[in-house]
Amino acid sequence: MPALDNPTEKTLAAIGINDPLAIEELFARERVRFDNQLAAKNPDEVNYNLMKNAWLGRKSGVLTLISENWLKPSPPTLKPIVGQELNKLKRHIESALEAFRVTAEKSSIAEAAAKDRIDLSLPGVIRPIGSHHLVRTVMQEIEDIFFSIGFSVVEGPEIETPYYNFEALNIPEHHPVRDDMDTFYLDLPKGAPGPLLLRTHTSPVQIRTMEKRQPPVRVIVPGKVYRRDNPDATHSFVFHQIEGLAVDTDITFCDFTGTIEYFVKQFFGESVKTRFRPSYFPFTEPSVEFDVSCIFCGGSGTGASGATCGKCKGSGWIELFGAGMVDPAVYGFVNYDAKKVSGFAFGMGMDRLAMLKYGIDDIQVFFQNDVRFLKQFP
Ligand code: FA5
Repeated sequence: MPALDNPTEKTLAAIGINDPLAIEELFARERVRFDNQLAAKNPDEVNYNLMKNAWLGRKSGVLTLISENWLKPSPPTLKPIVGQELNKLKRHIESALEAFRVTAEKSSIAEAAAKDRIDLSLPGVIRPIGSHHLVRTVMQEIEDIFFSIGFSVVEGPEIETPYYNFEALNIPEHHPVRDDMDTFYLDLPKGAPGPLLLRTHTSPVQIRTMEKRQPPVRVIVPGKVYRRDNPDATHSFVFHQIEGLAVDTDITFCDFTGTIEYFVKQFFGESVKTRFRPSYFPFTEPSVEFDVSCIFCGGSGTGASGATCGKCKGSGWIELFGAGMVDPAVYGFVNYDAKKVSGFAFGMGMDRLAMLKYGIDDIQVFFQNDVRFLKQFP
């Protein structure tokens, strides 16, 4: 039989087939054509659907064409043999496609399983273990020392009202001490109540604590504070303080100095030299500044090159904190009876404590997040 272009699109009469043998041969060719097409395809879902559509599709599948063009118009003498052959071909195609589908399904399951396979012999992913920032470590060291003498930790907001940051601490508007604590005020939407500012110290939490608790009070308050200070080796515009407050019926200046001395010896060791200096804070009376000898120049005020020590600016001392006995005026803001209670308060610069203890000569490294620095304090 000669090769025919798309024989299924023509009737048997049109392609000159009119005897059973030729019909069998014609169907055999279609079967081979189907087998070859299927063999050339990778078993997967897409190819299965393509082949199914091409051969068994209702509208224009090859079997539909055969039925329309060969079977229906064939003379009654040939119809039975065409019908038989068509059924044979259909069964063959259906079973071959089913086998193809099963193989496709198996290989996709195998492929997914291969992707999901866990190779237990592979080396694990090493996740570097982080560590605390040095300021956080120092905060915990300080907290532990104060825990050991009965203090607990409280916290307060970093965004404050002028009342808590200044007025309730006995710093009225236009008081000159506000000049030293110039800070960042928030831009608030029109009509928002009152001004808000980034707190300049942790002292507002003294007021917030005394408003909530009756004496005895013994708390420390770690946290971030903000000032419009120009950055240098010991100043940053954001830094950390730790406030302390102890109020009871019989607290004296001796309790205050004893507590501070205890803390400093626990934190720095016995050898560090310390001094109290008279100072002034509107919310303590009397007030002091507490200094430690400069570890960078050994307290001499002069660096190795003979020049003035840049860290203590030649004084030989580095200021650590301000402190004092709580001013009776402050009790008036929190409804404590100033005749019955007394107490002390202090506010330490945590970053400076960390610098002195760990020999760090520039406060800026705490805020630069350079891992080469951070890794030195695992
Ligand atoms: C105060 O902030 C008072 N609230 C402290 C206080 C609390 C006094 C309770 C009395 C009673 P002063 O402004 O001195 O005080 O700051 C306290 C400490 O914060 C300083 O001694 C210093 O160690 C640290 N400090 C101040 N300014 C900076 C800055 N710009 N950068 C880093 N540390 C600073």
